[in-house]
Amino acid sequence: MLSQQFSLSDPASQWVIVNKHRPLTPLQFVPADLAQPRVQLAASGEASLLNSTTAGAAEKLFAAAAVDGVTMTLASGYRSFQTQTATYDGYVSTRGQASADTASARPGFSEHQTGWAFDIGDGGGACSFEPCFADQPAAVWAKANAYKYGFVVRYPWMLNEITGYYYEPWHLRFIGVEAATDMAKRGIGTLEEYFGLEAAPGYP
Ligand code: DAL
Ligand code: ZN
Repeated sequence: MLSQQFSLSDPASQWVIVNKHRPLTPLQFVPADLAQPRVQLAASGEASLLNSTTAGAAEKLFAAAAVDGVTMTLASGYRSFQTQTATYDGYVSTRGQASADTASARPGFSEHQTGWAFDIGDGGGACSFEPCFADQPAAVWAKANAYKYGFVVRYPWMLNEITGYYYEPWHLRFIGVEAATDMAKRGIGTLEEYFGLEAAPGYP
């Protein structure tokens, strides 16, 4: 039993579950405490922001990676509803809707809009947002160590039937050190399984 529980529905809660079955409420939620973490940035403007709790945790995560000789960059953090609309529409226009839905959340359905999630890059920028990123030092380190700082790799390999997305070794989500550690020790791969929620492979 964890010492503290948090809401699974409130977007200001570190346990909020956002997936294809669970949009943000309100749909145009904006975090009240956006802050820029003191980490190596590969993003600018709103994309360099996180909510304040996640920003603090990210600073610890990046510093610990650096101690191990691993350079990590913040490649994409907060995305407003409006930015997610443009991002998603861009995917739809180049790939079509079915393919877009496997890679980009629809506006109001992205963890990036909560401020609790961000994408990492490697120091050299290798394989950014590509499957080969999984083998880059930043991703290998994050997969093994992120839980110690409260993060999970939100869209693991081969669990797309539960999460709705293919493997994204770059997308980290803060849920707190206690829950992330518990999840890692129990070998549970997804937030849906950990919190006993239904799988969300597609939009209803
Ligand atoms: N790429 C993730 C799923 C997002 O768009 O939020
Ligand atoms: Zn992401």
